[in-house]
Amino acid sequence: MKYKTSEDFAKFPLMVMESSEYSPNQCVYRNDEYGIWLYHANCIEFMDMITAKFPGGKFDMIFADPPYFLSNGGITCHAGKMVKVDKGQWDKSNGPEMNHEFNMAWLSRCQNVLKPNGTLWVSGTHHVIHSVGYAMQQLGMKILNDITWEKPNPPPNLSCRYFTHSTETIIWAAKTEKSKHLFNYDKMRQINNGKQMKSVWTMTAPNGDEKGFGKHPTQKPVQLLERIILASTIEGNLVFDPFAGSSTTGVASVMLKRKFVGCELEAEFIELSSKRLEMAIKERASVLN
Ligand SMILES: C[S@@+](CC[C@H](N)C(=O)[O-])C[C@H]1O[C@@H](n2cnc3c(N)ncnc32)[C@H](O)[C@@H]1O
Repeated sequence: MKYKTSEDFAKFPLMVMESSEYSPNQCVYRNDEYGIWLYHANCIEFMDMITAKFPGGKFDMIFADPPYFLSNGGITCHAGKMVKVDKGQWDKSNGPEMNHEFNMAWLSRCQNVLKPNGTLWVSGTHHVIHSVGYAMQQLGMKILNDITWEKPNPPPNLSCRYFTHSTETIIWAAKTEKSKHLFNYDKMRQINNGKQMKSVWTMTAPNGDEKGFGKHPTQKPVQLLERIILASTIEGNLVFDPFAGSSTTGVASVMLKRKFVGCELEAEFIELSSKRLEMAIKERASVLN
């Protein structure tokens, strides 16, 4: 993969890339005034280029919602019907060793692109989260918390052979053991009615309003990203999401006056993301006027 000219660098806030066999690798949505940049890119290639250009790290905080590797022919309940779990090719498992290799690959890049005191949040179900936690330990990151996101209205378990799956785990980690991470303790206590915020967060899955431009199969609620961003960044910080999907992280960043860079591989989600980001920018502009 080749860089373009230095003139191109000057025009774009982060970088210009060329397409590879994996992805077009282009900046497809940008708003310089609000500090929002979305790349149609393979996040591993993208982060390698960020590291080459900013070896000391670039991002204050990263939220990553990687493939869960759970689209493997199981069943679930959707809108009252039994359906196969098939979120897309990107979500298929390649076996535990290959999945762990992939997690090591993208997590090591996240570590490179974080600023020295930056933190990384990774969400997942049991299909992926244990490998993520182990990889973080192998990479020498400091695990700060594991948050349990509890969904009050999960779909029922149709097989009746398991407990109803109703939680996801979000691991919060600092770049290294030596990082002096930012935690907005007072803000968290304030939004929790004056009590210390616990590590179990109860929040519903995204509602219809959040899916007005179309659905992403694993879309996160904006409320969840708002809490994460409020807990670990300040206004003006630069937030990165390597697996942007429908850009929930970007929407929450816009609303909370943080800057955002996202990467997404699939064209259909790029389109959805662009619409959601545009709407969030309009909403924030109307709040300010
Ligand atoms: C679990 S979803 C993220 C959903 C997102 N948090 C949201 O709220 O919409 C993971 C996303 O990562 C994308 N993806 C998978 N591999 C990727 C890669 N190597 N680079 C960039 N995006 C990738 C998939 O297309 C999918 O949209």
